[in-house]
Amino acid sequence: MSIFSRIAGTGSYLPAKVLTNKDLEGAVETSDEWIFSRTGIRQRHIAGEGEFASDLALQASRHALEAAGVTPAELSLIIVATTTPDMVFPSTACILQAKLGAKTCPAFDVQAVCSGFVYALTTADHFMRSGQYQNILVVGAEVYSRILDWEDRTTCVLFGDGAGAVVLKRSDAPGILSSHLHADGSHAHILSVPGSVSGGKISGRPLLQMEGNAVFKFAVRVLEEVAEEALAANRMEKSQIDWLIPHQANIRIIQATAKKLNLPMSKVVTTVDRHANTSAASVPLALDTAVRDGRICGGQHVLLEGVGGGFTWGALMVRM
Ligand code: UT7
Repeated sequence: MSIFSRIAGTGSYLPAKVLTNKDLEGAVETSDEWIFSRTGIRQRHIAGEGEFASDLALQASRHALEAAGVTPAELSLIIVATTTPDMVFPSTACILQAKLGAKTCPAFDVQAVCSGFVYALTTADHFMRSGQYQNILVVGAEVYSRILDWEDRTTCVLFGDGAGAVVLKRSDAPGILSSHLHADGSHAHILSVPGSVSGGKISGRPLLQMEGNAVFKFAVRVLEEVAEEALAANRMEKSQIDWLIPHQANIRIIQATAKKLNLPMSKVVTTVDRHANTSAASVPLALDTAVRDGRICGGQHVLLEGVGGGFTWGALMVRM
């Protein structure tokens, strides 16, 4: 009998503080009109001073565990996708494990920037298929507000903080139908945080920098390519996608991807207007939103897509 992973529960969490485009107008030379027309973003959530990625992950995980009917003690693996970990080490996954009270199951982080959740979910699915795991918690959690240059209007208006989580259960029917991951490190320079800890000091510049136009073009190209790859692998037609959940960076990237796939925007889940770009958290946040408001139902086909720094990109075709 084959072993598959099934998404048994989803959850998410957004910090209480909301920062609107109007609020940003007072901080940098920008306008609500510019931000909304170029990106589709109206607002983003910002973590409180003592709130770390593991705290956002904890709340999202509790919601996902509750939805799946799984207790922390029943988890056999925890994977956290984050680019903004609580500290250099231990991993945010280990810190989360302690906060959840899920003793001794393995826990580790995955670092693939805005593709992080897609990478982590793929990793979890492969672990599940090994037959050694029963319930796996996969989280995307980010506090990008900590790595932004708040004086750089070309980047600070684009990102937000948040977390999303899913619980995978072992199943004898799929679930996750296929996953497709890619990376091309030769494009590292177009989106990076080029800093590190060295000799007790920060070396380099530990703030996000991006060539927006280059990232935009790259994202539109690879999101279409990897969607076609996922469709071909499952011998599916575009019309068989019930829901597209792409990384939420810019509504224009999302619209361009939907157009290339002949999908009406009514089949695309978008949260970028309220959450902005939450990197590894964006896909599970959008997934949880559409599961909880009743749009995504059991048996439907959902295509999850990530793209981000590295460069990394990937997709999963999921039967809910
Ligand atoms: O998760 C993956 C990471 N991120 C992304 O996927 C983002 C990808 N890129 C984008 O979303 C878009 O390229 C941006 C939203 C970043 C920029 O949009 P754009 O339409 O490519 O604008 P642009 O960079 O060509 O800038 C147009 C103008 C520039 O002024 P000049 O040179 O034409 O005088 C910018 O200086 O807009 C200016 N500008 C701003 N004006 C007001 C840039 N940022 C702002 C701002 N407010 N916040």
